[in-house]
Amino acid sequence: MHTSIFHNSKRSRLIRACLVVGLGCLSSTWALAQTAPATTEPASQAPTYLRDILPIIMGKCSRCHNEEQARFVYNWLDYQSAFADRWEIRRRVWDSWKGTYFKEAMPIANSPESFALTDEERLTIWNWVAGGAVRGVAPPPGAAKSKAERIELGRRLFTSICAACHQPTGQGLPNVFPPLAGSDFLNADKTRAIKIVINGRQGELIVNGRKFNNSMPKFPLGDDDIANALTFVYNSFGNAGLEVNPEEVKFLRTQPPDPEGPAGIPQKNPYE
Ligand code: HEC
Ligand code: HEC
Repeated sequence: MHTSIFHNSKRSRLIRACLVVGLGCLSSTWALAQTAPATTEPASQAPTYLRDILPIIMGKCSRCHNEEQARFVYNWLDYQSAFADRWEIRRRVWDSWKGTYFKEAMPIANSPESFALTDEERLTIWNWVAGGAVRGVAPPPGAAKSKAERIELGRRLFTSICAACHQPTGQGLPNVFPPLAGSDFLNADKTRAIKIVINGRQGELIVNGRKFNNSMPKFPLGDDDIANALTFVYNSFGNAGLEVNPEEVKFLRTQPPDPEGPAGIPQKNPYE
């Protein structure tokens, strides 16, 4: 099943591939599937797991593919697992999406993640596998020297990870993802908000009078990343303007998760 959005992006991708590669567009779709996308990046810019792929997996795959979701089993928040499954990941994200592989396209059609994953991110995954699926080095922690810098670094993180669920506007999705925009829950308790991003959260909660009961995965994010993302959120969308610094995050990692609801199960450290 394809929505019109899907259909259009598939078509434009195919047409572009036809034009650049010079393949007859009447050739079978299977032949197209065997052809590298025309926009494959030069090797020097080949995507790496730690810099390019892990953020995509955190934001666009990990709600369904994580260690808590035992029924899905697969969890690519560490390099070894992602590398081992790279071919099937690529087929599901690229070939199935183009209709040339028979298994279900990923992320599952019409999930919030399927709308959030961009064509460029699909191509990044393709290129990562084509370039040898290298691990790369972890990007340096986004150590901000001022609140303004923290907000800017946080904006990028929010866009690549948090926005997949909470939406670029911070409005969330009714009954599924609580809003961060003008969230009474967020603004009432900074410590609780930090602990939620450190540990993940699962269970019932009420934000701006609306009930939610879903699960946010625990992400393998460092202290600086969490501080930056939350500072961006607190200084956007009509929120309270608070700053979160990495020392607070570091300390709260040693404290029990909040709230009562079972927190995320610890993930393997992807940087190991
Ligand atoms: C909304 C939930 C959801 C999201 C989001 C999601 N998946 Fe899946 N995925 C599933 C389910 C359910 C299955 C099992 C059904 C199947 O195999 O088609 C699955 C299966 C897979 C498989 C096949 C595993 C195997 O070896 O059989 C791959 C690979 C995969 N997903 C990759 C991804 C990637 C990469 C992303 C993110 C870009 C993603 N998925 C996002 C739910 C999801
Ligand atoms: C995969 C989807 C998903 C992603 C990505 C995600 N969240 Fe969440 N978030 C949720 C869900 C679902 C809840 C509610 C969990 C519950 O029901 O217990 C939530 C709750 C929250 C809450 C508390 C409730 C509120 O609305 O104030 C905060 C704060 C929060 N998330 C911040 C973030 C930040 C910051 C990021 C990025 C680092 C992020 N989230 C990424 C799904 C997600």
